[in-house]
Amino acid sequence: MKETISARRVRELVGSLPAGPIHAGLADALTLLIGDGRIPLGVRLPSERELSAALGLSRTTITRAYASLRDSGYAHAAQGSGTFTAVPGGHERAHDRVLVAGGAGEDWIDLSCAADSAPAEVMAAYATALSELPAYLSRHGYFPSGLPVLQEAVAAGYAARGLPTDPDQIVITPGALTAAGVVVRALARRHGHALIESPTYPNVGEILRAADLQLHEAPLDGNGWDIAGIAETVKQVRPDFAYLIPDFQNPTGAVMTAAQRQQLGKVLRLRETRAIVDETHHALALDGQAMPPPFAAFDADAVTLGSMSKTHWGGLRIGWIRAPRPLLEKLVRARMSLDLGVPVVEQLAAAHLLRQGPVSPLQIERLRAQRNALIDLVGTHLPDWRFTPPAGGLMLWCELPHRGATALAAAAAASQVVLTPGPVFSPSGGLDSFVRLPWTRPVAELRAAVERIAAAWRRLEESGPLSAVRPRRAGAVF
Ligand SMILES: Cc1ncc(COP(=O)(O)O)c(C=O)c1O
Repeated sequence: MKETISARRVRELVGSLPAGPIHAGLADALTLLIGDGRIPLGVRLPSERELSAALGLSRTTITRAYASLRDSGYAHAAQGSGTFTAVPGGHERAHDRVLVAGGAGEDWIDLSCAADSAPAEVMAAYATALSELPAYLSRHGYFPSGLPVLQEAVAAGYAARGLPTDPDQIVITPGALTAAGVVVRALARRHGHALIESPTYPNVGEILRAADLQLHEAPLDGNGWDIAGIAETVKQVRPDFAYLIPDFQNPTGAVMTAAQRQQLGKVLRLRETRAIVDETHHALALDGQAMPPPFAAFDADAVTLGSMSKTHWGGLRIGWIRAPRPLLEKLVRARMSLDLGVPVVEQLAAAHLLRQGPVSPLQIERLRAQRNALIDLVGTHLPDWRFTPPAGGLMLWCELPHRGATALAAAAAASQVVLTPGPVFSPSGGLDSFVRLPWTRPVAELRAAVERIAAAWRRLEESGPLSAVRPRRAGAVF
């Protein structure tokens, strides 16, 4: 049976309508809710009569709003059974085949991407950006270090976290991954060395490797970082770089304490190892807790990477580098050998969003509910899996009772769930008894995914000893 959404729930989600023609405002609000997934695809909308009663609007208004949704492809009518949500061009249009290797049909659940859909503020920010655009059209439109209003908004964010920053210390890039690429391109010497956490975000590992850097692992466990162990490696190897994710580390969710930041910052400065600090997740504290100061507050030589992909939307493609002044020229030069800047409309929208705060409150609320649901689901359906419940970020790093994560990913794919096994996050292989589960899908999808994963895991356990399977690496992992 098709899922339905009640008129009361639609009323809660729609909230107050903007000024102007009411049917158009209602159609816009519903379009946004369907587009960002708060009203899932294929769901039956309330009847016109029910919605008119719930919203206190005339039946004609609802009829016109539904007609407008159908005209724009955000709904379709099924003879005699109601109006159902859709997206123009169908579900597959919203996917990139490089990312969803297995398939992008409606029944596939993609847990390889730890990034949520856009909260409502994003659409409003684009509307504001468009209204501000004319002021930029009379010039060439290239901003290789970034649009000044966005540099200011990013710098203000660091100042608010206790790290005074001038806007010209910020270089805007199309995301944190490109930011890492620019830093490595600007500063790496061939055959150099880099310290990297294990497990870690694999795409930056690839960047370091592609720059001919030899990688040295700093293992992370349930207790986070072993600072004394890292200090020993740094002393022996004297790496050029240390790539660190101190805030809700991807994939473990660990947070480095202020004392550890201070200790490690001191070690890195002493050995002239440049910290590349990836703060992509720093604003995703889900329990109202204060975060430790930024790593660069303890290590003035650190280069910091930031992003709006997880706090707002990956499709903005906005990230940045915060760098010590002496490095700026090199960084901008390296950047200009790759591209000449981020689109102006995106930068205007991003500045508008950041002026409202480091993260959308709606995003936090949604992520908290999804995290809590995922923790309950894994606890219920996979009781012998172990994890440390993270106080923020986007993912559960689950330890299985024995190895078999790669085989599980293959078995889950047979049930149309895409998940990423531990070895993908390990710079040197191993970690096959770990699986990363992001909580960045709606609760109903998380439930279906965990049920399918649990069934796949049971099938595997019943099938006897697990044979070695090569980890799947389909494009990027987020
Ligand atoms: C730690 C980390 N760094 C960087 C990125 C890439 O972010 P962006 O979309 O800003 O390039 C991700 C995305 O998953 C991430 O988890």
